[in-house]
Amino acid sequence: MKIAIMYKSVTGNTKKIAEQIKNTLMNEEIIYFGDPNIKIDADIYFFGSWTFKGDIVKEIADVLKNLKNKKIAIFGTAGFGGSQEYFDKLYKRAKTNIDSSNHLLGYFYCQGKMPMTVRDKYIDLIKQNPEDKNLQVSLDNFDKALMHPDKEDLDNVSAWAKAIIK
Ligand SMILES: Cc1cc2nc3c(=O)[nH]c(=O)nc-3n(C[C@H](O)[C@H](O)[C@H](O)COP(=O)(O)O)c2cc1C
Repeated sequence: MKIAIMYKSVTGNTKKIAEQIKNTLMNEEIIYFGDPNIKIDADIYFFGSWTFKGDIVKEIADVLKNLKNKKIAIFGTAGFGGSQEYFDKLYKRAKTNIDSSNHLLGYFYCQGKMPMTVRDKYIDLIKQNPEDKNLQVSLDNFDKALMHPDKEDLDNVSAWAKAIIK
């Protein structure tokens, strides 16, 4: 079975997940690993994106939009949420780029740490608006995200990737 793993990652979280998929499936024929590329002819495509403004990034969306009659699995990392409900929403949005002739095999999301500049911004905002409870929730979420992707995320994506190719 020919497998292509295409992903976009800026700070390395999604790359870590992509590499875990590659390592998990090392006994399969992985014909491509890297930037999204429409020209690869595989049996199964794994597409991964970091989350930007609540969506997959344009480079991944553009390739997805052009695929027809393919088997596709989606993965990604997101700074917010850490909840299945949020991840379901991200997947729903990602799916809007995929033609109905394709066969969707499933999806996997996990939390990913965010740059420290984001934390600095929250601290500044909390100083300016000490009564705003949502800002404290955002800061707590940021600190929780710092540990991700963690060992459990990697174990989970391995189990998921194995199930996808079955
Ligand atoms: C400019 C910017 C916008 C972001 N927007 C979102 C967002 O809308 N939702 C979310 O959950 N995470 C958002 N994030 C967090 C990233 O998606 C998260 O840190 C992700 O794991 C980064 O993946 P990477 O390390 O593969 O680049 C944003 C991060 C940046 C830098």
